Amino acid sequence: MNLTTLTSKNLLKLSRKEMQTLGYQVIDLLIDHFETIHSKSTTPKIESSVVKERLYESIPKKGISPQLVMQQLQNDVFSNVMHHNHPRFFAYVPSPNNFISAMADTLASGFNIFAGSYKAAPAAAEIELITIDWLRQLCNLPAGAGGLFVSGGTMANLTALTVARHIKLQNQIKNAAVYYSDQTHSSIERALYILGFDHTQIRKLPSDENFCLRVSDLKNAVLKDWATGKFPFCVVANAGTTNTGAVDPLSELSNFCLREDLWLHIDGAYGAASILCEQGRSVLKGLELCDSLSLDPHKRLFQSYEAGCVLVRNGNWLKETFCMRPEYLSDLEPQQEEVNFYDYGIQLTRSFRALKLWMSLKIFGLEAFEKAIEQGIALAELVEQILRLSTVWKIVTPAQLGVITFQYIPEFDLPLKEINLINSKIMERMAKNGFAMLSTTKLKNSIVLRMCTINPWTTEADIRETLQYLEYFGRLEEILSRNIRGILRSA
Ligand SMILES: Cc1ncc(COP(=O)(O)O)c(C=O)c1O
Repeated sequence: MNLTTLTSKNLLKLSRKEMQTLGYQVIDLLIDHFETIHSKSTTPKIESSVVKERLYESIPKKGISPQLVMQQLQNDVFSNVMHHNHPRFFAYVPSPNNFISAMADTLASGFNIFAGSYKAAPAAAEIELITIDWLRQLCNLPAGAGGLFVSGGTMANLTALTVARHIKLQNQIKNAAVYYSDQTHSSIERALYILGFDHTQIRKLPSDENFCLRVSDLKNAVLKDWATGKFPFCVVANAGTTNTGAVDPLSELSNFCLREDLWLHIDGAYGAASILCEQGRSVLKGLELCDSLSLDPHKRLFQSYEAGCVLVRNGNWLKETFCMRPEYLSDLEPQQEEVNFYDYGIQLTRSFRALKLWMSLKIFGLEAFEKAIEQGIALAELVEQILRLSTVWKIVTPAQLGVITFQYIPEFDLPLKEINLINSKIMERMAKNGFAMLSTTKLKNSIVLRMCTINPWTTEADIRETLQYLEYFGRLEEILSRNIRGILRSA
């Protein structure tokens, strides 16, 4: 084949001027977003059919100018997203990222750093080691503990359970059993299925009245399994459930696991970072006793997606579980002290995820993070305080680590089904309105409204106005429900 001289476009290159124009446009767009987010709608207002119509096209053979593409992005994409970092976004787990994190991702992506091997980027590996060690220290794990950054809580849980399977079972999973409460995040079940366990090996125990794992139930289940030839090997505890922020009795569970020689994995993807503040520290006593821990910087540590982290009590466990030595990577074999992160987890090629948390901590400082986390916890307590003064709301679970659940209770007796419907409708109306966004969840057959208030940019006025809207929507739905019932009765 003859080599031809390619034009700069065919080299996928922009001129310096073009790069600057596009780069400044991107940065300006982001700055505008961060500065104006408070006044934006939390939810998209566009129908999916319109989105499809605007975006679908055949593969562009010839390119167009970056400015035209930016315009399309601005008009059709970024203006039509649910803003998980909006100060009035209270649904699911909000993701209040920070600008430094976004810039760090731009740098990591621009330099395209391969954060798999030490030799490829020694300083990047050191930054990951340092940042992991900061998280280890914050969670009070011992000096020999280690970890790595992954894409999020799901991957952290999968990585941790893979280590548990390897270290505890030498990957022989037949008859092995795993225990956790019915409040545990679905990513645990998914991870177990991926790892080859089936439903007969999973003991999903009913949670207590505070939505926590009952140690007595766990004991009974484990004893029963031992007695019937099963092999109990792992308990998954929650450090802040997604539904209610509940924390399982971590110290008690750790004692039990030590006695019975069980692996204790703690899913702290939502709540573990609360350990940075006083209140979190007292609720999370025992976190340091885990064998493995998931935590998510893209939730409570204000990082852009994707930033999850898994910590394990003995850093060598990761390497023992994941290390493979393909011939073509033998040149990259680490010397003493060097760490190839691709030996420590599932990914070979991996981005420099540590950079964003490292930069954010360096620039804002730990104290700013402590205050921001404290604020998120206090905001949920404010919600609870306000709701307790009203006659139409029932607090279902009190404010815990930034999550509160509550229910609109109509003035007149209505069946549970109808109350559930009213609460779902309140959420739908709020989403449609776009001023704020919250979600529902199901707790013991009741549909409840759930607010997660971890965004430090949320103001007291945001909370008060959101609650006014909710009450208004609740009253409206109650009237509609009574009228419909009246019509049905007279029909
Ligand atoms: C407790 C808990 N574990 C795991 C996850 C999964 O995390 P991710 O969405 O980052 O994969 C979540 C997500 O909300 C969570 O709240």
